[in-house]
Amino acid sequence: MEQFGGRYGEDVFRPEQAGEGERIDFGALAYDGITMARLRALGAGPGWRCLDVGAGTGTVSRRLLAEAGVTSVLAVDRDVRFLSERPLPGLDVLEADVTAPDFDPGRFRLVHARFVLMHLPGHDRLISRLAGLVEPGGVLVLSDAVDLTSGLPGSVTPGTPYTAVMRAMWQGLRDTIGTDVGWVPSYPHLLRTAGLLPVAAEIHVPPLQPGSPISRFWADTWQRSRAAMLATGLVDDTDVDAAVRYLDSEECAALSAGMLTVWGRKPGGTEPGGAGPGAGQEATDRTTGPVSSG
Ligand SMILES: C[S@@+](CC[C@H](N)C(=O)[O-])C[C@H]1O[C@@H](n2cnc3c(N)ncnc32)[C@H](O)[C@@H]1O
Repeated sequence: MEQFGGRYGEDVFRPEQAGEGERIDFGALAYDGITMARLRALGAGPGWRCLDVGAGTGTVSRRLLAEAGVTSVLAVDRDVRFLSERPLPGLDVLEADVTAPDFDPGRFRLVHARFVLMHLPGHDRLISRLAGLVEPGGVLVLSDAVDLTSGLPGSVTPGTPYTAVMRAMWQGLRDTIGTDVGWVPSYPHLLRTAGLLPVAAEIHVPPLQPGSPISRFWADTWQRSRAAMLATGLVDDTDVDAAVRYLDSEECAALSAGMLTVWGRKPGGTEPGGAGPGAGQEATDRTTGPVSSG
């Protein structure tokens, strides 16, 4: 089998560095509501066995159990220090590298990975492997970053402190970890190619407002990736400091990078727990009503 490699947590975002759990939690604060609404609309609930890949601090794993009432969650990460801090009935923790050739934790009704694949090489092969972990009738749900301020033909990127530093961040993370968000808009097609049907996707962009979770997430992320950003030669320390101040000021007028979520259903199977024929399409959340597929 193939080995995919990847150096997340070694050169940048080291889990042993003070405050890394809080940084992940700022991202979770910005996105957990959207993620949980989608997972519940897809039917996540009693009877579901779930796999949370690259679970981080485990906010989604815990909310699947506590709010959606799923039967169990296997939370996997290359470093489980945050996951092990607070045990919860139904939460199983596994320290493993999802790119390892022998990674095969079983079959699940839900396989979920958020902000993980973008940091790992071989997205298409990894998506295919994760699709293989979904039981018939179950769903694969992937979320990763999309940055709408670059890449579109004819797009104009305003010259703000935010855009300069974001460009350096993506380049710096690419040079050090191998992070590549260029693939993310292809995820719907890649899920279909992996045999999932139907497939759908949506994007959420949280507002950049002073003191908001997403603003604090970016400021902290820039501090932790500062060396990688400076090494690109695109920005210097003054630029990074100016961008951090800009984010926290009323002058801030920028569009944040957002989160693309894509989901697809594995053909076959029955419907215990609710991943029925609508699992890859518009679905109705049992508690909050209809959720738009965006
Ligand atoms: C940006 S965090 C996202 C955490 C969580 N999914 C969330 O959205 O809040 C990425 C997580 O993926 C984990 N990770 C990165 N590479 C991994 C790998 N090869 N195998 C398992 N976990 C990995 C990291 O340790 C980290 O906890």
